[in-house]
Amino acid sequence: MKILVIGSGGREHALCWKISQSKKVKEIFCAPGNGGTSELAKNIDIAANDVDGLLEFALKEKIDLTVVGPEEPLTLGIVDRFKEKGLKIFGPGKKASQLEASKKFSKEIMNKYNIPTAKYKSFTDFKAAKEALKEFNLPLVIKADGLCLGKGVFICQTYSHAEKVLKDILEDRCFGDEGEKIIIEGFLKGIEASLLCFVSGDKIIPMESAKDYKKIEEGDEGLNTGGVGVYSPNEVVTKELEEEIKNGILKNISRALREEDLQYEGILFIGFMIDGKDTNILEFNVRFGDPETQSILLRLRSDLVDILLKTIDKSLEEEDLIWDERASVCVVTTSLGYPLKYEKGFGIDGLDDLDESIIVFHNGTKYVDNKLKTNGGRVLTVSALGKDINVAREKVYEELKKVSYKNIYYRGDVAKIN
Ligand code: AMP
Ligand code: GLY
Repeated sequence: MKILVIGSGGREHALCWKISQSKKVKEIFCAPGNGGTSELAKNIDIAANDVDGLLEFALKEKIDLTVVGPEEPLTLGIVDRFKEKGLKIFGPGKKASQLEASKKFSKEIMNKYNIPTAKYKSFTDFKAAKEALKEFNLPLVIKADGLCLGKGVFICQTYSHAEKVLKDILEDRCFGDEGEKIIIEGFLKGIEASLLCFVSGDKIIPMESAKDYKKIEEGDEGLNTGGVGVYSPNEVVTKELEEEIKNGILKNISRALREEDLQYEGILFIGFMIDGKDTNILEFNVRFGDPETQSILLRLRSDLVDILLKTIDKSLEEEDLIWDERASVCVVTTSLGYPLKYEKGFGIDGLDDLDESIIVFHNGTKYVDNKLKTNGGRVLTVSALGKDINVAREKVYEELKKVSYKNIYYRGDVAKIN
């Protein structure tokens, strides 16, 4: 088979890595890809949001299966466009992508189908939103409706900060049209867990759970990022809780997919906040997570291409997913300054000296004259499996000492569980 993976991050490198292990696969293309994907696939210089260009390429190359990494092409309707032309593609259509692309849409679905989430109100008018602030206890959360490159969520400790956020989004339009609507919601406390699920029509089959580290600084301080560390499984998702989620929340989501005609063949990535017995949903994403995918695919023993094909032809069963009992830990190295301003283009050293048990996925790298250089805020996902989280964690941090590039920064407390 000829497979096209769309995107350029650590998630896409992990997808290429796992897909390349399938006997069914003859050739992999990655658009646009990165230094890591170029070692497994042919990088194609087409941007992930260039739907016309990708469609033309897939038709010309007679691609047998396309796997979409990031949310943007999904929201632009790439799946609908490929299907119209008879091309096989893994991901939700434009309508179902609203579950991620519109906070208001996803909250309405959650409320309608009894899916537990923080109480919320949505607004387009600054004055009305401002007046409603006092209905929410502090801290409160304000979210711009659209994708906003993942930067549209604000946790406000004071009403005056909340008012400023509302003004920035609704009046000064700091996110443009993506901030035309906002929601205000109650703050949820607890521990976050990521649960990625295969969605095949209205059937939802969860993978192993993961714990993402979103903040840039140790101790969960500093700015929000795309995710700078992860481990799997997440200990808060116990077997009992997983069963409870399957029998309750997932059944309700499945009904929503059916009744709202949102059925698709792809991923539903559920962000949970778990506080003792209280399990709420923070958000839906309709794609693989980054870096969650790296930690989960490391633990998947089954052939991923078989799973993707079965998801598409609706024959996927829970038994098709066979998991490695070992735990995985992944630390994302970044360029100092990320998620704000940072420099790139620095040579990366030490990867050849790593123990062979370490798997390195590339987030933002590029080969320039055969030398690997940094090319993004997130640079490498350095990963290992171990008999438990601590063993995997020690292995990763020990080996990480060998990796160097100018301005390297990473958290030292990923997977440090007390
Ligand atoms: P979201 O894009 O909605 O997942 O928000 C990004 C991050 O903001 C989440 O991963 C949480 O850490 C935090 N967050 C979002 N909504 C809430 C909430 N209602 N209560 C507490 N934290 C939240
Ligand atoms: N790591 C969170 C995300 O991919 O959205």
